[in-house]
Amino acid sequence: MGRIIEASYALLRPILFSIDAERSHRLTLQMLARMPSIAPPADPPELHSTVFGISFSNPLGLAAGADKDARAISAWNSLGFGFAEIGTITPRPQPGNSPRRMWRLTNNRALINRLGFPSEGMEAVAPRIERYLSRSRRMRIALNFGPNKETSPDRVAADYASLMGRLGGVAAFIVVNISSPNTPGLRDSQAPERIRAIVTAIRAARENGPPLLIKLAPDLETPMLAEICAAALELGLDGIVATNTTLKREQVGVTSRYEGGLSGEPLKARAREVITEIYTHTRDRIPIVGVGGIASAEDAYAHIRAGASLVELYTGFIYGGPRVVREIREQLARLLRRDGFRSISDAVGKAA
Ligand SMILES: Cc1cc2nc3c(=O)[nH]c(=O)nc-3n(C[C@H](O)[C@H](O)[C@H](O)COP(=O)(O)O)c2cc1C
Repeated sequence: MGRIIEASYALLRPILFSIDAERSHRLTLQMLARMPSIAPPADPPELHSTVFGISFSNPLGLAAGADKDARAISAWNSLGFGFAEIGTITPRPQPGNSPRRMWRLTNNRALINRLGFPSEGMEAVAPRIERYLSRSRRMRIALNFGPNKETSPDRVAADYASLMGRLGGVAAFIVVNISSPNTPGLRDSQAPERIRAIVTAIRAARENGPPLLIKLAPDLETPMLAEICAAALELGLDGIVATNTTLKREQVGVTSRYEGGLSGEPLKARAREVITEIYTHTRDRIPIVGVGGIASAEDAYAHIRAGASLVELYTGFIYGGPRVVREIREQLARLLRRDGFRSISDAVGKAA
């Protein structure tokens, strides 16, 4: 069945790539949502791990943004992901920025987007997650939270708190998105005192809630990153997702002038640098979810050796399709064995 899906994607890819990137993604989601639910092949035992108290059958997740409204959860499970990060979800529905707002840079195997959190809102998403969880628990569901665009800076923490209140009960873990470049002012929330205020508000919204992670931008300077890591340790955060998309262009070898966040291959080296920096500050105390430019098992493995306990991809899936997920699951175990590691956790940070 998996091979049939891979072959279908290979046939459809030229058509999907001939139309606008956002429309093509919407069509892909519609097709995935109609796919019959199947149990993926069992993961190699080396890929099983427990991170922030949650067990994962493999460390590969779908990154935020690919399925913002939980439209195709069962399909991500069928394709073999170990977890999916749904969102960014905002409390109230909002349309996001006006089109055009997503572009492929095919030669760079990259994307630029300025979507600005189009979201059906938390009330629409909650029942879809509940439906999936009533049928399967194999793939873990992470939820990525963001504030509404019109929310004033002094109410941002309250938006995160209401998301936690409504959705905290259906998530394996929560990612607080404070790093999207497409919601004005959001990246200012990465200042340690703002992180403190947001985390305090979220924790107050739900006692004994799921593990709480923050998602950081790749464009943070080294001193700021160190301050954020210190704050994360002090707050006892459960994890850090690194990284979101970058606003850089020339520095990462891209000439395109489209406005928005850049993802994919050109982001990979910087994302890995940030993972290494965070790992050096936090060692084994705060697990890292490594994301940015992963398109193969080697890429995933290098992020893990830089310090990531889990990894995610989005742009790599657009270019490679379902095959990438299978190859990463199969080949990652081989790479671990080659280097004498018995598990993912043995390899975490070995290159940092
Ligand atoms: C079209 C698009 C939409 C995205 N939307 C979100 C989002 O809503 N929330 C978020 O935290 N990250 C979002 N991201 C960032 C990804 O989750 C990821 O951090 C980034 O793309 C780097 O990974 P990649 O190179 O594998 O794509 C988006 C990325 C893309 C390409």
